[in-house]
Amino acid sequence: MIIARQLRKSFKPASRLSGKGKRAKRIVAVDDVSFDAADGSITGLLGPNGAGKSTTLRMLATLVSPEHGHAIIDGFDVQHDVLEVRQHLGFMPHNAGIYPRLTSRENIHYYARLCGLDNRQSQQRVGELIEQLSMSDFADRRTAGFSQGQKTKVALARALVHQPQTIMLDEPTNGLDVMATRGLRDIIRTLAANGHCIVFSSHIMQEVAALCDHIAIISNGVIAMEDTLQGILQRTAQTDLEDAFVVATRSLQDNALDTNRS
Ligand SMILES: Nc1ncnc2c1ncn2[C@@H]1O[C@H](COP(=O)(O)OP(=O)(O)OP(=O)(O)O)[C@@H](O)[C@H]1O
Ligand SMILES: [Mg+2]
Repeated sequence: MIIARQLRKSFKPASRLSGKGKRAKRIVAVDDVSFDAADGSITGLLGPNGAGKSTTLRMLATLVSPEHGHAIIDGFDVQHDVLEVRQHLGFMPHNAGIYPRLTSRENIHYYARLCGLDNRQSQQRVGELIEQLSMSDFADRRTAGFSQGQKTKVALARALVHQPQTIMLDEPTNGLDVMATRGLRDIIRTLAANGHCIVFSSHIMQEVAALCDHIAIISNGVIAMEDTLQGILQRTAQTDLEDAFVVATRSLQDNALDTNRS
Protein backbone atom coordinates (compact mmCIF):
# COMPACT_ATOMS: atom_id res chain seq x y z
CA MET A 1 0.00 0.00 0.00
CA ILE A 2 1.00 3.60 -0.49
CA ILE A 3 0.67 6.50 1.92
CA ALA A 4 1.79 9.81 0.42
CA ARG A 5 1.78 12.96 2.54
CA GLN A 6 2.34 16.55 1.44
CA LEU A 7 4.83 15.70 -1.27
CA ARG A 8 6.46 18.61 -2.99
CA LYS A 9 9.00 18.87 -5.79
CA SER A 10 10.23 21.80 -7.83
CA PHE A 11 12.80 22.01 -10.59
CA LYS A 12 15.25 24.64 -11.67
CA PRO A 13 14.28 25.81 -15.15
CA ALA A 14 16.79 25.41 -17.97
CA SER A 15 19.45 28.12 -17.45
CA ARG A 16 19.05 29.72 -20.92
CA LEU A 17 15.54 30.84 -19.92
CA SER A 18 16.55 32.37 -16.63
CA GLY A 19 18.13 35.55 -18.01
CA LYS A 20 21.45 37.06 -16.98
CA GLY A 21 21.81 38.05 -13.37
CA LYS A 22 18.24 37.14 -12.52
CA ARG A 23 17.35 34.28 -10.24
CA ALA A 24 15.03 32.05 -12.20
CA LYS A 25 11.78 31.06 -10.56
CA ARG A 26 11.64 27.35 -9.88
CA ILE A 27 9.02 25.26 -11.60
CA VAL A 28 6.76 23.69 -9.01
CA ALA A 29 5.88 20.31 -10.49
CA VAL A 30 4.25 18.93 -7.34
CA ASP A 31 3.09 21.36 -4.67
CA ASP A 32 1.12 19.38 -2.11
CA VAL A 33 0.23 15.78 -2.88
CA SER A 34 -1.31 13.48 -0.28
CA PHE A 35 -3.22 10.32 -1.09
CA ASP A 36 -3.60 6.69 -0.03
CA ALA A 37 -3.64 3.63 -2.25
CA ALA A 38 -4.80 0.39 -0.64
CA ASP A 39 -3.88 -3.23 -1.32
CA GLY A 40 -6.38 -5.13 -3.46
CA SER A 41 -7.59 -1.97 -5.13
CA ILE A 42 -6.93 0.20 -8.18
CA THR A 43 -6.20 3.86 -7.54
CA GLY A 44 -6.25 6.33 -10.42
CA LEU A 45 -4.15 9.48 -10.39
CA LEU A 46 -6.24 11.60 -12.74
CA GLY A 47 -5.01 14.92 -14.07
CA PRO A 48 -4.31 16.96 -17.20
CA ASN A 49 -0.93 17.32 -18.94
CA GLY A 50 1.60 18.94 -16.64
CA ALA A 51 -0.48 18.33 -13.49
CA GLY A 52 2.38 16.55 -11.71
CA LYS A 53 1.38 12.89 -12.16
CA SER A 54 4.72 11.61 -13.44
CA THR A 55 6.70 13.65 -10.92
CA THR A 56 4.55 12.23 -8.09
CA LEU A 57 5.09 8.67 -9.32
CA ARG A 58 8.81 9.28 -9.80
CA MET A 59 9.10 10.46 -6.19
CA LEU A 60 7.23 7.37 -4.98
CA ALA A 61 9.48 5.19 -7.15
CA THR A 62 12.57 6.73 -5.44
CA LEU A 63 13.81 8.18 -8.76
CA VAL A 64 13.67 11.78 -7.51
CA SER A 65 13.59 12.83 -3.89
CA PRO A 66 10.82 15.02 -2.47
CA GLU A 67 11.75 18.44 -1.11
CA HIS A 68 9.00 18.20 1.44
CA GLY A 69 6.62 15.57 2.78
CA HIS A 70 7.06 11.84 2.96
CA ALA A 71 5.70 8.62 1.55
CA ILE A 72 5.52 5.05 2.79
CA ILE A 73 5.25 2.05 0.48
CA ASP A 74 4.47 -1.30 2.10
CA GLY A 75 5.84 0.05 5.37
CA PHE A 76 9.06 1.44 3.86
CA ASP A 77 9.96 5.11 3.62
CA VAL A 78 10.75 6.25 0.07
CA GLN A 79 13.58 8.48 1.27
CA HIS A 80 15.18 6.25 3.88
CA ASP A 81 14.47 2.70 2.73
CA VAL A 82 15.21 3.08 -0.97
CA LEU A 83 16.27 -0.54 -1.62
CA GLU A 84 13.29 -2.03 0.22
CA VAL A 85 10.89 0.28 -1.62
CA ARG A 86 12.38 -0.78 -4.96
CA GLN A 87 12.05 -4.45 -4.00
CA HIS A 88 8.36 -4.06 -3.20
CA LEU A 89 7.52 -1.82 -6.10
CA GLY A 90 7.00 -2.41 -9.81
CA PHE A 91 7.11 0.83 -11.79
CA MET A 92 6.28 1.32 -15.42
CA PRO A 93 7.47 4.81 -16.40
CA HIS A 94 5.80 6.95 -19.05
CA ASN A 95 8.47 6.43 -21.68
CA ALA A 96 9.04 2.72 -21.44
CA GLY A 97 12.85 3.17 -21.72
CA ILE A 98 13.55 -0.39 -22.83
CA TYR A 99 16.90 -1.37 -24.34
CA PRO A 100 16.59 -1.42 -28.15
CA ARG A 101 19.48 -3.83 -28.74
CA LEU A 102 18.06 -6.48 -26.43
CA THR A 103 15.13 -8.74 -27.27
CA SER A 104 11.94 -8.58 -25.21
CA ARG A 105 13.01 -11.68 -23.31
CA GLU A 106 16.51 -10.28 -22.66
CA ASN A 107 15.08 -6.93 -21.46
CA ILE A 108 12.84 -8.65 -18.91
CA HIS A 109 15.51 -11.18 -17.91
CA TYR A 110 18.03 -8.38 -17.33
CA TYR A 111 15.64 -6.67 -14.92
CA ALA A 112 14.82 -9.92 -13.20
CA ARG A 113 18.52 -10.47 -12.49
CA LEU A 114 18.88 -6.87 -11.26
CA CYS A 115 15.99 -7.57 -8.90
CA GLY A 116 17.85 -10.53 -7.46
CA LEU A 117 16.22 -13.53 -9.18
CA ASP A 118 18.69 -16.26 -10.05
CA ASN A 119 19.08 -17.40 -13.63
CA ARG A 120 16.64 -20.31 -13.37
CA GLN A 121 13.98 -18.35 -11.46
CA SER A 122 14.32 -15.52 -13.94
CA GLN A 123 13.91 -17.74 -17.01
CA GLN A 124 10.83 -19.32 -15.52
CA ARG A 125 9.26 -16.01 -14.54
CA VAL A 126 10.07 -14.40 -17.91
CA GLY A 127 8.44 -17.37 -19.67
CA GLU A 128 5.29 -16.98 -17.54
CA LEU A 129 5.03 -13.28 -18.30
CA ILE A 130 5.58 -13.78 -22.02
CA GLU A 131 2.66 -16.19 -22.05
CA GLN A 132 0.44 -14.13 -19.75
CA LEU A 133 0.93 -10.96 -21.78
CA SER A 134 0.68 -12.76 -25.17
CA MET A 135 4.18 -11.74 -26.18
CA SER A 136 5.42 -14.95 -27.81
CA ASP A 137 5.34 -13.49 -31.35
CA PHE A 138 7.91 -10.86 -30.46
CA ALA A 139 9.60 -12.34 -27.40
CA ASP A 140 12.86 -13.07 -29.21
CA ARG A 141 13.03 -10.01 -31.44
CA ARG A 142 15.21 -7.03 -30.59
CA THR A 143 12.93 -4.26 -29.34
CA ALA A 144 14.25 -1.59 -31.76
CA GLY A 145 11.34 -0.69 -34.05
CA PHE A 146 8.69 -2.20 -31.78
CA SER A 147 5.18 -0.76 -31.93
CA GLN A 148 3.94 1.24 -28.94
CA GLY A 149 1.82 -1.68 -27.76
CA GLN A 150 4.74 -4.12 -27.96
CA LYS A 151 6.99 -1.71 -26.03
CA THR A 152 4.31 -1.24 -23.39
CA LYS A 153 4.02 -4.98 -22.88
CA VAL A 154 7.78 -5.35 -22.43
CA ALA A 155 7.81 -2.46 -19.95
CA LEU A 156 4.87 -3.95 -18.07
CA ALA A 157 6.49 -7.38 -17.92
CA ARG A 158 9.65 -5.74 -16.63
CA ALA A 159 7.68 -3.95 -13.89
CA LEU A 160 6.02 -7.21 -12.82
CA VAL A 161 8.96 -9.57 -13.09
CA HIS A 162 9.88 -9.60 -9.37
CA GLN A 163 6.22 -10.04 -8.34
CA PRO A 164 6.04 -6.72 -6.50
CA GLN A 165 3.24 -6.08 -4.04
CA THR A 166 2.72 -2.51 -5.22
CA ILE A 167 2.56 -1.62 -8.91
CA MET A 168 2.58 1.90 -10.37
CA LEU A 169 1.89 2.46 -14.04
CA ASP A 170 2.39 5.89 -15.61
CA GLU A 171 -0.17 6.33 -18.41
CA PRO A 172 -0.03 2.62 -19.26
CA THR A 173 -2.60 2.70 -22.08
CA ASN A 174 -0.80 5.48 -23.93
CA GLY A 175 -0.65 4.42 -27.60
CA LEU A 176 -2.46 1.13 -27.10
CA ASP A 177 -5.28 0.03 -29.39
CA VAL A 178 -8.70 -1.01 -28.11
CA MET A 179 -7.90 -4.70 -27.79
CA ALA A 180 -4.54 -4.09 -26.14
CA THR A 181 -6.18 -1.63 -23.72
CA ARG A 182 -8.84 -4.19 -22.81
CA GLY A 183 -6.14 -6.80 -22.27
CA LEU A 184 -4.21 -4.45 -20.01
CA ARG A 185 -7.34 -3.62 -18.01
CA ASP A 186 -7.95 -7.33 -17.44
CA ILE A 187 -4.37 -7.74 -16.21
CA ILE A 188 -4.73 -4.77 -13.86
CA ARG A 189 -8.04 -6.10 -12.48
CA THR A 190 -6.55 -9.56 -11.92
CA LEU A 191 -3.55 -8.09 -10.08
CA ALA A 192 -5.86 -6.09 -7.81
CA ALA A 193 -8.09 -9.12 -7.23
CA ASN A 194 -4.96 -11.00 -6.14
CA GLY A 195 -4.35 -8.39 -3.46
CA HIS A 196 -1.84 -6.11 -5.18
CA CYS A 197 -1.93 -2.36 -4.77
CA ILE A 198 -2.24 -0.72 -8.19
CA VAL A 199 -1.79 2.96 -8.95
CA PHE A 200 -2.02 4.24 -12.47
CA SER A 201 -1.95 7.73 -13.86
CA SER A 202 -4.15 8.92 -16.67
CA HIS A 203 -5.77 11.98 -18.17
CA ILE A 204 -8.58 9.89 -19.68
CA MET A 205 -11.76 10.21 -17.62
CA GLN A 206 -13.56 7.15 -19.06
CA GLU A 207 -10.57 4.95 -18.41
CA VAL A 208 -10.30 6.02 -14.78
CA ALA A 209 -14.07 5.80 -14.25
CA ALA A 210 -14.16 2.28 -15.75
CA LEU A 211 -11.25 0.83 -13.85
CA CYS A 212 -10.57 2.56 -10.55
CA ASP A 213 -11.91 1.80 -7.09
CA HIS A 214 -10.39 5.01 -5.83
CA ILE A 215 -9.55 8.26 -7.66
CA ALA A 216 -7.16 11.07 -6.73
CA ILE A 217 -7.73 14.16 -8.90
CA ILE A 218 -4.52 16.15 -9.36
CA SER A 219 -4.28 19.63 -10.80
CA ASN A 220 -1.36 22.08 -10.73
CA GLY A 221 0.57 19.79 -8.42
CA VAL A 222 -2.17 19.57 -5.80
CA ILE A 223 -4.67 16.82 -5.03
CA ALA A 224 -8.01 18.53 -5.58
CA MET A 225 -10.15 15.61 -4.39
CA GLU A 226 -9.67 11.97 -3.44
CA ASP A 227 -12.49 9.46 -3.11
CA THR A 228 -14.36 6.64 -4.83
CA LEU A 229 -16.04 7.53 -8.13
CA GLN A 230 -19.42 7.67 -6.34
CA GLY A 231 -17.94 9.80 -3.56
CA ILE A 232 -16.48 12.29 -6.06
CA LEU A 233 -19.76 12.50 -7.99
CA GLN A 234 -21.69 13.07 -4.76
CA ARG A 235 -19.31 15.65 -3.36
CA THR A 236 -19.34 17.66 -6.59
CA ALA A 237 -23.08 17.08 -7.20
CA GLN A 238 -22.37 15.80 -10.72
CA THR A 239 -23.36 12.68 -12.64
CA ASP A 240 -20.27 12.32 -14.77
CA LEU A 241 -16.58 12.29 -13.89
CA GLU A 242 -15.62 14.91 -16.48
CA ASP A 243 -18.02 17.46 -14.96
CA ALA A 244 -16.96 16.42 -11.44
CA PHE A 245 -13.32 16.94 -12.45
CA VAL A 246 -14.07 20.51 -13.58
CA VAL A 247 -15.91 21.29 -10.33
CA ALA A 248 -13.20 19.73 -8.14
CA THR A 249 -10.35 21.58 -9.84
CA ARG A 250 -12.31 24.85 -9.97
CA SER A 251 -12.88 24.78 -6.22
CA LEU A 252 -9.14 24.29 -5.81
CA GLN A 253 -8.46 27.38 -7.95
CA ASP A 254 -11.07 29.39 -6.02
CA ASN A 255 -9.40 28.42 -2.74
CA ALA A 256 -6.02 29.49 -4.13
CA LEU A 257 -7.47 32.85 -5.18
CA ASP A 258 -9.03 33.35 -1.73
CA THR A 259 -5.69 32.55 -0.08
CA ASN A 260 -3.84 35.00 -2.34
CA ARG A 261 -6.35 37.76 -1.62
CA SER A 262 -6.26 37.35 2.16
N1 LIG B 1 13.02 17.56 -14.74
C1 LIG B 1 12.21 18.61 -14.88
N2 LIG B 1 12.72 19.85 -15.08
C2 LIG B 1 11.91 20.92 -15.22
N3 LIG B 1 10.56 20.86 -15.17
C3 LIG B 1 10.01 19.65 -14.96
C4 LIG B 1 10.79 18.47 -14.81
N4 LIG B 1 9.94 17.42 -14.61
C5 LIG B 1 8.69 17.94 -14.65
N5 LIG B 1 8.73 19.27 -14.86
C6 LIG B 1 7.58 20.18 -14.95
O1 LIG B 1 6.70 19.87 -13.88
C7 LIG B 1 5.35 19.93 -14.31
C8 LIG B 1 4.68 18.59 -14.04
O2 LIG B 1 5.24 17.63 -14.93
P1 LIG B 1 4.81 16.10 -14.91
O3 LIG B 1 5.63 15.40 -15.94
O4 LIG B 1 4.87 15.59 -13.53
O5 LIG B 1 3.28 16.20 -15.37
P2 LIG B 1 2.25 15.07 -15.84
O6 LIG B 1 1.01 15.26 -15.03
O7 LIG B 1 2.90 13.74 -15.79
O8 LIG B 1 1.94 15.49 -17.34
P3 LIG B 1 1.66 14.58 -18.65
O9 LIG B 1 0.20 14.20 -18.61
O10 LIG B 1 1.93 15.54 -19.79
O11 LIG B 1 2.58 13.40 -18.64
C9 LIG B 1 5.38 20.35 -15.77
O12 LIG B 1 5.20 21.72 -15.84
C10 LIG B 1 6.78 19.95 -16.21
O13 LIG B 1 7.23 20.78 -17.26
MG1 LIG C 1 3.37 12.32 -17.21
